[in-house]
Amino acid sequence: MVIKKQTIKLKKVQKNSKPSFEKNKKITKKPVVKTKATVDNKGSEVTKKTEEKKPSKKFSKDLAPLRGMKDILPKDEQFWKAAHHEAEDIAHAYNFGWIETPILEEVSLFIRSIGKGTDVVDKEMYVFEDRDGSKVGLRPEATASLVRSYITNGMQSESQPVKVWTCGPMFRHDRPQAGRFRQFHQFNCESFGVKDASVDAELIVVAYNFLNDLGISSTVFINSIGSKEDRDNYTIELVAYLRSKRSYLCDDCKKRMNKNPLRSLDCKVEQCQPVIEDAPKIIDWLGVESKKYFMKVLEYLDELEVPYMLQPTLVRGLDYYTDTVFEIYEDQDKADTQKSSQGALGGGGRYDLLIGQLGGQPTPASGFAIGLERVVMALKNLKEKGKNIPIVEKRSKIFFAQLGDQARMRALGLIEKLRREGVLVYHNIGKSSLKGQLELANKYGVTHSLILGQKEVLDGTIIIRDMDSGIQEIVDQQKIKQELKKNNLITIKSE
Ligand code: HAM
Repeated sequence: MVIKKQTIKLKKVQKNSKPSFEKNKKITKKPVVKTKATVDNKGSEVTKKTEEKKPSKKFSKDLAPLRGMKDILPKDEQFWKAAHHEAEDIAHAYNFGWIETPILEEVSLFIRSIGKGTDVVDKEMYVFEDRDGSKVGLRPEATASLVRSYITNGMQSESQPVKVWTCGPMFRHDRPQAGRFRQFHQFNCESFGVKDASVDAELIVVAYNFLNDLGISSTVFINSIGSKEDRDNYTIELVAYLRSKRSYLCDDCKKRMNKNPLRSLDCKVEQCQPVIEDAPKIIDWLGVESKKYFMKVLEYLDELEVPYMLQPTLVRGLDYYTDTVFEIYEDQDKADTQKSSQGALGGGGRYDLLIGQLGGQPTPASGFAIGLERVVMALKNLKEKGKNIPIVEKRSKIFFAQLGDQARMRALGLIEKLRREGVLVYHNIGKSSLKGQLELANKYGVTHSLILGQKEVLDGTIIIRDMDSGIQEIVDQQKIKQELKKNNLITIKSE
């Protein structure tokens, strides 16, 4: 296994090099003057000057959207539609069920989940007093609400894992800048009820494939922050280190050092960056079990050919995480600074303590969220470079059923190969019966299913089943693509 090591360097904020009097100068735009050639009554050509109409900006300031919030206009429909279609397709393909929760919740839900001392809770929450005097908040993220819903709707008694996805607006009163808004949209996937490295790997694959299917090439930056015990031991070391560097830290970090020292590691202030880079690394404080678990996640990612880099300073800005944490960045084109300034396209990780902390039975969980404004910006960049935005609705669809442990492992690799060819492969990698899986295939309306059992794993074959007639054909696993293509069941991207 190759572990690539890299630390993301934060970009320096470009200083405005204009002299100060220039900065304060009011810019008044002159109307654009166009020339128009016409012919006069003597037949000779004359050139008339005409003024081009400027779009009227005559509306009162309070009619404009609030700062950091914006309208999504028809001219951007194709990008938003592509992102929404892909979210729905991929979530269903990996068997996540759609859920929607209210935008307003009791503010204590977010404080207890995300944690005091985080920027989101301390500085960015929209909090209001409701008419009955209770405090409510606009959701700054979806995970807290989804966990609340899992507990209050009794989903703990359903068969686990319970996998849910949602898309919708979130609100954070942050300083607006490139890729950062006060109202923004996220695509979220969460898996409740099972702690296994394959669950974390599957979520990372879903996030990675979501971007990949849209034509956005990306890399996963990954770390482990271990168990609570690992973190407690590490925190003692970190606080001692931060105290020794106190004079180099920003005022916020000086406070965080005592209140929530881990949060210093995701401080964005430039003066703190050298201190953060040299800080002790949490990965060196992981216990045997946490290390083993993390290695297993990386092994799965290797197997599924997801490009990743270890990032030892990555801790994420929310308090609920345990073990695996990750963020996804668009692959950088060094000449294009516009893209790099908008930050991570998505992030997530495991949060095994949150459901218990909020009053549910202690239950492991893991998830991610991708910011759709940043995805749309990446899609627009691609379009400007002449790339087509994929029409995801028109993709070929098929169901992949598997039975038995060995078949499950083999299926993961085969599914990913077909996906990379642009085929939408629905599946439910779990222990459900063949009948249950084929019912799901019918629900998704596919015409054919692939079936892989223990026998097929041993002899290197796979079954193609016509869902209408029930007729089955046995084919060589190496030739799945060609067989599906031959029967006009799929179109292959690479051919
Ligand atoms: P997050 O890293 O805070 O994680 O947000 C996820 C993504 O939402 C970011 O990578 C970014 O693309 C987008 N995003 C965040 N803030 C803004 C903003 N102000 N403007 C535009 N886009 C933004 C979470 O929210 C976690 N709930 C993810 C998660 C799910 N962890 C486990 N499950």
